[in-house]
Amino acid sequence: MAETVTGPADDAARIAEYPMPRASGCPFAPPPALEALREETPVTQVRIWDGSEPWLITGHAQQRALLADPRVSNDDHFGSFPHVSEYRAQIAPFTPRMIVNTDAPEHTRLRRMVTGPFLIKRIEKLREPIQKIVDDLIDDMLAGPNPADLLTALALPVPSLVISELLGVPYADHEFFQRNSSLALDRAAPPAESQAASRAMSDYLDKLLGEKLTDPGDDTLSELAGRVNAGELTRSEAVHMGVAMLIAGHETTATMISLGTLALLENPEQLAVLRDTEDPKVVANAVEELLRYLTIVHSGLRRVAKEDIEIDGRTIRAGDGILVEITAANWDREVFPDADRLDLSRPARHHNAFGYGPHQCLGQSLARLELQVVYSTLYRRVPTLRLAAPIEQLEFDNSGTTYGVRCLPVTW
Ligand code: HEM
Repeated sequence: MAETVTGPADDAARIAEYPMPRASGCPFAPPPALEALREETPVTQVRIWDGSEPWLITGHAQQRALLADPRVSNDDHFGSFPHVSEYRAQIAPFTPRMIVNTDAPEHTRLRRMVTGPFLIKRIEKLREPIQKIVDDLIDDMLAGPNPADLLTALALPVPSLVISELLGVPYADHEFFQRNSSLALDRAAPPAESQAASRAMSDYLDKLLGEKLTDPGDDTLSELAGRVNAGELTRSEAVHMGVAMLIAGHETTATMISLGTLALLENPEQLAVLRDTEDPKVVANAVEELLRYLTIVHSGLRRVAKEDIEIDGRTIRAGDGILVEITAANWDREVFPDADRLDLSRPARHHNAFGYGPHQCLGQSLARLELQVVYSTLYRRVPTLRLAAPIEQLEFDNSGTTYGVRCLPVTW
């Protein structure tokens, strides 16, 4: 048989397009093409919307190595940074330096300004108030129309109420900041609308911070205002930190509550584990497994190489873009046997759902606590909870930073 000779044209044709579509069968599974890449070449190149070819990292170990590597940068002002959309690329040169797009030592300085409120022992003090929020919302849901949309009845208000309280943002404005933060993150939204939404959020936080500079309360925004008064942060840095926390603090957790409930309703024997336990360790582990199984941040953690990096027999050159696909790594069968099975008893805490390294999720202890309270309360208080529409009729949201359901009709 004649040998097949492959040239550059064949190589170009073989490069996969990213992002990849999910299969229609299981709404929780990562795109099959992504899984295939992880099995064959966990470090490979893909083509994105602007024709550039960043590295796609799908292996669990390779992701951790790169996310912790100081030669890997979050600097989205860098020319070849692999932006998520044309709009993001256009505004990148004008985006302020903030916690999400800086490297050490600047990132270390900014992050240190907000680690206090997110320390586990401070977050743990919120358990009782969060339990009250969840109980009250479930009371309201049960007293209201049946069926209900779990997203609006519980999944969105829990994190919104909690982050508003923590930051010192009036919850009465929640429709404003929910709408604008969702628009700011939506890849499919018209660029002018996303830009207007980001500006509206900054103006809103700036006004609030202005008030806290002279009249501080007992909240995180007031702590930031104190740092501005002490000359440790500029006013603009404090505002953008507030915006980052407000945006990151509710959509993610809301998505985990709604998609997590859907996954549990589809796996009743797993739901029973949560419904029937009183053991906080069982609940905490269930949260880790749901974070792994669903990995809602599905748009690739974006980075750029500052120096040449050897990994897995490949050389990522200085200036190359990097996409870390945590959805794929959390279904890596070498790390999580039978990864496609939701198993609330498996040890899952070493998932990458909160990222890894210096930029790993700032709010993870808060998110864990909120999810523990919701998952350990909802199915016990409403043991007859079930879907009010066939799963095939649900609409899934693929266009944001997180993957979730647009509406979750439930009945009881
Ligand atoms: C289940 C809920 C959540 C998930 C799955 C999640 C996921 C993530 C992930 C994957 C990253 C890393 C991004 C990267 O490396 O590029 C991240 C960063 C971040 N998260 Fe979360 N998050 C959640 C909840 C929260 C909450 C409640 C807050 C509250 C403030 C928050 C604030 C942040 C911030 C500020 C960063 C940036 C940290 C940095 O760049 O140093 N997140 N999150």
